[in-house]
Amino acid sequence: MSALIIDGKQISADMRNEMISEVAELKQKGVTPGLAVILVGEDAASIVYVGSKEKACIQLGMYSEVHRMAADSSEEQVLALIEKLNNQDSINGILVQLPLPKHINEKAIIDAIRVDKDVDGFHPESVGNLVIGDDSLLPCTPAGVIELIKRSGVDIAGKHAVVIGRSNIVGKPVAMLLLRENATVTICHSRTANLEEIAKQADILVVAIGRANAIDSKFVKPGAVVVDVGINRLDTGKLAGDVDFESCQTVAGHITPVPGGVGPMTITMLMKNTITAAKKVNGM
Ligand code: GUN
Repeated sequence: MSALIIDGKQISADMRNEMISEVAELKQKGVTPGLAVILVGEDAASIVYVGSKEKACIQLGMYSEVHRMAADSSEEQVLALIEKLNNQDSINGILVQLPLPKHINEKAIIDAIRVDKDVDGFHPESVGNLVIGDDSLLPCTPAGVIELIKRSGVDIAGKHAVVIGRSNIVGKPVAMLLLRENATVTICHSRTANLEEIAKQADILVVAIGRANAIDSKFVKPGAVVVDVGINRLDTGKLAGDVDFESCQTVAGHITPVPGGVGPMTITMLMKNTITAAKKVNGM
């Protein structure tokens, strides 16, 4: 047996096409969704990510501002910019690219972003809203995972979903979203005993541990949906997920590849959040 491959690139392209039409309609009503990205310093990966976010905005017809600040910018300078963007009507979403230079307190920065412009979904109030089921902007990668599963025609309700990983940016929010979709959710992590046994009970297995090829077919129930959130750079320079794709695809029913699975969805969900924020603030 060979698993169906969940094509994140295709699903992302489909969603972006839908959003191009939606943005065009909004613009006819006088609303142009706007995203501001703040990049402090010159982290190589961050420069690439920020460039992709700007490109996506332009592709969709949205308004984009990128604020590139020197690595030695003070926390006060970053906070002052956030305050300005919080009050700027042309900006519906604010994203501060992480990681920040060490002398800047990441929490203070995230806490300063207006909740209704928190398109990363990292603000404590956004996280709280997600947990209690109130309306909020959803963190992009976890929301992308749910979208991939749904658009593959898989029903989440009633399924046993096992999440491996408990980070604040992936593991915990993805578990909350699966719960909201009425899955029965188990969260596993580095201290979990019998990981293999628990993972093997999963109808939906979401892996976000940050270790290349850590999960092979022994962890997968025949027919399960396997979603790999990991992106690891191997010594050979190649990208690998947390899931051993070759091994797992012989057992799984559906599986996401790396690259081309969850990765392309993150920026797409950021665009969706920015549109959602623009509609909300305009009472649409
Ligand atoms: N750095 C790597 N991924 C992300 C992300 O999703 N959001 C932000 N703000 N920074 C990141």
